[in-house]
Amino acid sequence: MAQLWGGRFTKETDRMVYEFNASIGFDKRLLDQDIKGSMAHADMLAKQGILTAQEAASIKKGLEAILWDVEEGRLAVDLGCEDIHSFVEAELTRRIGEAGKKLHTGRSRNDQVALDMKLYTREQVMVTDRLLKELLKVILEVMEENTETYMPGFTHLQKAQPTTLAHHYGAYFEMFRRDRQRMTDIYRRMNYCPLGAGALAGTTYPLDREYTASLLGFDGPAVNSMDAVSDRDYLIEFLAALSTIMMHLSRFSEEIILWNSNEYQFVELDDAFSTGSSIMPQKKNPDIAELVRGKTGRVYGDLMALLTTMKGLPLAYNKDMQEDKEVFFDASDTVKDCLTLFTGMLRTMRFRKDRMAASALNGFSNATDAADYLVGKGVPFRDAHGIVGRLVLYCLEKNTSIGALSMEELQGISDQFEEDLYEAVSLKACVERRLTAGAPGPKAMRAAMDGYRVYLEKE
Ligand code: ARG
Repeated sequence: MAQLWGGRFTKETDRMVYEFNASIGFDKRLLDQDIKGSMAHADMLAKQGILTAQEAASIKKGLEAILWDVEEGRLAVDLGCEDIHSFVEAELTRRIGEAGKKLHTGRSRNDQVALDMKLYTREQVMVTDRLLKELLKVILEVMEENTETYMPGFTHLQKAQPTTLAHHYGAYFEMFRRDRQRMTDIYRRMNYCPLGAGALAGTTYPLDREYTASLLGFDGPAVNSMDAVSDRDYLIEFLAALSTIMMHLSRFSEEIILWNSNEYQFVELDDAFSTGSSIMPQKKNPDIAELVRGKTGRVYGDLMALLTTMKGLPLAYNKDMQEDKEVFFDASDTVKDCLTLFTGMLRTMRFRKDRMAASALNGFSNATDAADYLVGKGVPFRDAHGIVGRLVLYCLEKNTSIGALSMEELQGISDQFEEDLYEAVSLKACVERRLTAGAPGPKAMRAAMDGYRVYLEKE
């Protein structure tokens, strides 16, 4: 049992207590961050004359070698240690002797673990951002190919008005773009270095906190040492942002599951991204979309767990905070997998444009356009609404659509209907006439997509 304390204890720790207390089983993934943080700390200690240049050089060399050896598989992390910090210090001291014991001068595991978590989170924020960008690229590709792919837009899951696939995907582009903005926000707010905060009240050594902060790419040191060791806001913000990403992925997944159903048949999933049934040979199941939808609950759970862990904690560090790691690792791993797989599924999914257009036509999604047509002929909108309502009822009785009625049938309901009605209720016309900014009309769509292209090039 390699532990960093013991002087004031007269008895061995109970084995179960030791194991319950230990975090190495999961914080071993912070090895890289722990070593980088320690190297910066050693550099600073030497610069301030607290360590000699030789001591710092030997510490840094030793730390680098440990990292290298673990990465190359020559050294296994000793799971008998309490945590990754204990492991690195014990291994360093074993390798370089006395100088290794000096590394912890002016540092506590409290500021050390806060630093490791921040370094790790910063990386995860960037990786998540990159994966979101990949997804956005695929969404934009699909948009560019489908500005004239007509489909029904829904409200209450009832066909509402015609739109295009490009427009529908554009809504998701906006959502995932906001998710990326949240990544930038979090990064900016969290990028202050806790190192040098000590256990909670700073240290008596003349540390240069500005220096370590700049060595590690922070915008500066965290201002208050108590806050520095007990702040987990950035993890909560990141988990909240991950939950929002999952909520977006889950809504998109839900639509893909519907679109892939026998009833809709709007899309066909690629064989590589779907699965079969052990008993029903006809099945091709949207398991990836379902799993993404399912894993959303788990990421929300991780957020709730950390919020709840933090809610009653007095300042400053409490061991409860060790619980931040498993939920955080679980959520960020889950979201990375979900984004990667979802993007692959989207890239390979094919659209049944005929089915989508037919669905838009036979569900009266052009009824508003028929009313607008009457308004164009001078009928007040409220009356036009009533006339088209009767028209829809007539079509329902005859099991047909507005554009398929004869001129006699149309004029039986209103003498304002003329030949040009047919063109006015075609999907192409319905969509083209929607020219407000943000609408599916070609001009508005082109403007939106031009903006998206520039955005993806720049950011
Ligand atoms: N394993 C601990 C954690 O993850 C490291 C900090 C230990 N600090 C302490 N005062 N016991 O939070």
